[in-house]
Amino acid sequence: MTPEARGVWFGGDYNPEQWDEKVWAADDALMRQAGVNTATVGVFSWSVLEPDEGRYEFGWLDGTLERLSRNGIRVVLATPTASPPPWFTLAHPDAMPVTRDGTRLWHGSRDTYCAAAPAYRAAAARIAGALAQRYAGHPALAMWHVHNEYGTVCWCDHAASAFRGWLQGRYGAGGDGLAALNGAWGTAFWSQRYSSWEQVLPPRATQWLPNPSQVLDYNRFWSGELLAAFREQRDALRRHAPEIPVTTNFILPGYQVLDFWAWSREVDVVAIDHYLGSAGPDGHPDIAFGADRARSFNGGRPWILMEQSTSLIYQRDGILTKEPGRMLRDSVGYLARGSDSVMFFQWRASPAGAEMFHPAMVPHAGPDTRIFREVCELGSAVARLGEVVGSTVPAEVALLWDADSWWALENRGIPLAEVGYLDLVRADHAALWRAGVVCDFVHPDGDLSRYRLIFATGAYLISDEGAWALRQYVAAGGHVVMSFGGGMVDSQHHARLGGCPGALCDVFGIRVEEFRPLARGETVALTYGAAPLAYGAAALTGEADPITGGGHGTLWSEDLRTEGADVLASYAAGPLAGQPAVTRNSFGAGTAWYVSTQLDEGARDRLFAGAAARAGAGPVIAGAPPGVEIVRRHGDGGRSWLFVLNHTNAAAVVEASGVELLSGQPADGRLEVAPGAVAVLREHGSSAAASGTGPARTDPPTTQEGGHDIQ
Ligand code: GLA
Repeated sequence: MTPEARGVWFGGDYNPEQWDEKVWAADDALMRQAGVNTATVGVFSWSVLEPDEGRYEFGWLDGTLERLSRNGIRVVLATPTASPPPWFTLAHPDAMPVTRDGTRLWHGSRDTYCAAAPAYRAAAARIAGALAQRYAGHPALAMWHVHNEYGTVCWCDHAASAFRGWLQGRYGAGGDGLAALNGAWGTAFWSQRYSSWEQVLPPRATQWLPNPSQVLDYNRFWSGELLAAFREQRDALRRHAPEIPVTTNFILPGYQVLDFWAWSREVDVVAIDHYLGSAGPDGHPDIAFGADRARSFNGGRPWILMEQSTSLIYQRDGILTKEPGRMLRDSVGYLARGSDSVMFFQWRASPAGAEMFHPAMVPHAGPDTRIFREVCELGSAVARLGEVVGSTVPAEVALLWDADSWWALENRGIPLAEVGYLDLVRADHAALWRAGVVCDFVHPDGDLSRYRLIFATGAYLISDEGAWALRQYVAAGGHVVMSFGGGMVDSQHHARLGGCPGALCDVFGIRVEEFRPLARGETVALTYGAAPLAYGAAALTGEADPITGGGHGTLWSEDLRTEGADVLASYAAGPLAGQPAVTRNSFGAGTAWYVSTQLDEGARDRLFAGAAARAGAGPVIAGAPPGVEIVRRHGDGGRSWLFVLNHTNAAAVVEASGVELLSGQPADGRLEVAPGAVAVLREHGSSAAASGTGPARTDPPTTQEGGHDIQ
């Protein structure tokens, strides 16, 4: 089946085991009405599938798959291992999770298991194998969905034993391994030296600051241990149904438990659950932030939006409601950046249980509601976009994304921990979003050469390999912007001695001698040096216009000296008055920028626009009105689709030609998009025509080994 023929996957989590046959019949009719073509089934069904250990009840699931198949709905079949049944707890209490402070948790919620406990791993592989044996070859089965949002960690004795095994694999066993561990963890500090392996424990609750190297390794251990648990299930499924793709749902944006680069190499396609941090304007770059990462984790190939919310979003700052129209615009925002699906948690709002008020495609109030009407409109829109399926989103700019740096930077007691890795990266990504520059994410050891410009944001930990890769990239003509705190520690969380960014000082032409974090709310004014900082439209002509306009720094500042770099901005006041704040250095054939403070939005936008222009990168369409998001997907044979999302309250006009797919209307050089609306234009002519993006990347994105196309 060609990608286009299979169309955009539309639907979501479906939990019929919470309802009776009358509702099932209503579901069939409403799914047809809404245009649902995909249902994820069984995510939390372990206790109804295996009511007693070793006794399976598949009847209801047989009936569900039969019903969905008759309805023309493909099934993403889940393994239900994220919530073991109560009998499991009583049979294997040692497999229940233990918190850092030693509290044993019991069933009554979900995610009550320790993934390092042998009894849990065996039971999980058994239920996965039983499902695979029964449903391999089922006509409705389109994909396996292992577990749910891996991320549950534990500090129990099973975890301790597995951790020691992992450490011996990393540092070596026996006395030599222990010596290497002591060195890596700097245990001479605070009398922590280990004289036997039995003494090595997880970083459990302790009196004050934990050992940062130990915490970093424990994060690495759990990402690997959970991945091993995933692989066991995946391989059990593949043994019975090798032709069916296997994935699991990564939870973005905030889950920091997993090294998604390592995980993405093990799934057949990256699938994410994405819940916005804001239902307001900040939600738009939030969608891009999640989508750009999902696409990048999937090697640039189309990915799956497994879950989003139809409305209410439970966030730190309260419960946010999506206003009318947002469901369509948000969903098209994911499609624009490479998703080939629009799926929700969940189909029908649960009648009871901890998430009974989480919104759904069919609310408690039923189908005669705004939400279900918007679901039907969305289903109808999505059905017109099938031709974009399988196309890719080229990017010439990338941000580094490194779980090691995230884990290291947020260690308690680390000066940057207050700043937060995710917030730093999100802020720089949002600046590129505002500039209309579509960007990927890339690992420091990844293929940097694909990009004209790279942002090393939050790169607090840079390994020797990562430093070498950045050096080579700049020397060969790459452009990099490194933000403050870059390269402070190595991969064992040891300080880079001699000043920062360590082995890259010569590349950036600077040496940071001292860090001066700013107090909460404190700002420091900046002045702009004589060296022109080309930015904005002027830079496209190669004309360098002297930087103008003010700007200030927040969060952090640094006492650095230049060793060859130009000074573009200096601190204008305070203890660093007159000292360099923003520098630029030519190294080899490339350019290395360094920003020693958190610039205010305006200054950051100017700097980024200048760096992008100097690197020959830019927005998809130059001069788009602020708040109008434009992304292009490229297909085979030079075909391309322009996605235009108008987040403003005014009509937007974009110079473009083609056929708008949602309305079927032609656009002959001028495409108008109403306030709050979206447009998807099948473009006429070459897909490389758009200004400011340089030649469209024609090389296919790197795909992972063994990847399957989604059916
Ligand atoms: C996650 C889970 C779902 C549900 C939603 C609620 O994505 O996968 O089971 O809990 O969150 O937002």
